[in-house]
Amino acid sequence: MPKWFQSKVLEKKVWTEGLFTLTIDGSGVEPFLPGQFLHLAGYPNGIANDADDEQREKQRVNRPYSVASPHGEKLEFFIVLVEDGELTPHLAQLEPGDDIEVSEKAAGRFTLEKTPDAENLWLIATGTGLAPYVAMLREDSPWQRFKKIVVVHGVRHANDLAYTEELRELEKSRSGAFKLVQALTRESTDDTLEGRIPALVENGELEKAAGTEMTKDNCSVLLCGNPAMLDSMEEVLGQRSMTKHRSKAPGQIVLERYW
Ligand SMILES: Cc1cc2nc3c(=O)[nH]c(=O)nc-3n(C[C@H](O)[C@H](O)[C@H](O)COP(=O)(O)OP(=O)(O)OC[C@H]3O[C@@H](n4cnc5c(N)ncnc54)[C@H](O)[C@@H]3O)c2cc1C
Ligand SMILES: NC(=O)c1ccc[n+]([C@@H]2O[C@H](COP(=O)([O-])OP(=O)(O)OC[C@H]3O[C@@H](n4cnc5c(N)ncnc54)[C@H](OP(=O)(O)O)[C@@H]3O)[C@@H](O)[C@H]2O)c1
Repeated sequence: MPKWFQSKVLEKKVWTEGLFTLTIDGSGVEPFLPGQFLHLAGYPNGIANDADDEQREKQRVNRPYSVASPHGEKLEFFIVLVEDGELTPHLAQLEPGDDIEVSEKAAGRFTLEKTPDAENLWLIATGTGLAPYVAMLREDSPWQRFKKIVVVHGVRHANDLAYTEELRELEKSRSGAFKLVQALTRESTDDTLEGRIPALVENGELEKAAGTEMTKDNCSVLLCGNPAMLDSMEEVLGQRSMTKHRSKAPGQIVLERYW
């Protein structure tokens, strides 16, 4: 079981109903790498003020969340409400000043340190799978390592898009080295592609929008979020002879499954 830091919510940003970013006090969390996850915990069924460790252990509900910011005094988490879920209805009700528990030590291998070198880097996400990429792109190292970085964010509706302003700023400040491509599956707008990410790879629209190709020899690909998207993408990229990266069998693809 993780060791828990008794943290507080410092800020809350609601992107749209049920989709929010919590910023919490991270002063009790050990240093970690962008892309890693921490556990957040709470007591959806309540807990007595004088509850002892055993009672807390019994009542605590915890889940892993990618940190959407690099290590620091404040930590961000980008979270979607799963209506019939156990923890997210509780997290969605939290406000600045409320208590939240966070694991002291991060975990996970979904980091750029575990990603093979390549000319270009594709960071592909559905929904809140964007979180680890926001953390990665706030550091300097990826910009020194890759010639071009493309973020692909697939969501249902335009109002499910998040972090757009921050990412569009990167397109200006990292001119030529960064591209954001957003794709909607249940709506169309002038600024976004329409369709699921694997289909947009198959029909060439994604690479056209990104201004670069996705080949075995020119890129590494990170995939995060909905496990069905990960499976479809593995299949589509497999047709291009791209495989999952393993230390003993180097490939191009690194994955983080959210469920
Ligand atoms: C390594 C890792 C990192 C994660 N990071 C994040 C994150 O940054 N943000 C985030 O919102 N979630 C993230 N998750 C998912 C998170 O851990 C919980 O599963 C999720 O918040 C649901 O918790 P719950 O208790 O409300 O639902 P539960 O009662 O645990 O129900 C879980 C069910 O909800 C569905 N579900 C879970 N997560 C999602 C999701 N993000 N989108 C759609 N459906 C989902 C699945 O069907 C799953 O079986 C991550 C999961 C893993 C394994
Ligand atoms: N604003 C919000 O985002 C919001 C708010 C409140 C509650 N919720 C709830 O949160 C949960 C998660 O919703 P979500 O929209 O964040 O996540 P999601 O269901 O994983 O959808 C995110 C994106 O992934 C796509 N997708 C699904 N399966 C795919 C596949 N096999 N291959 C490629 N792409 C695929 C979806 O396309 P399709 O549209 O084709 O499925 C959608 O564009 C749901 O229970 C939802 O009701 C969401």
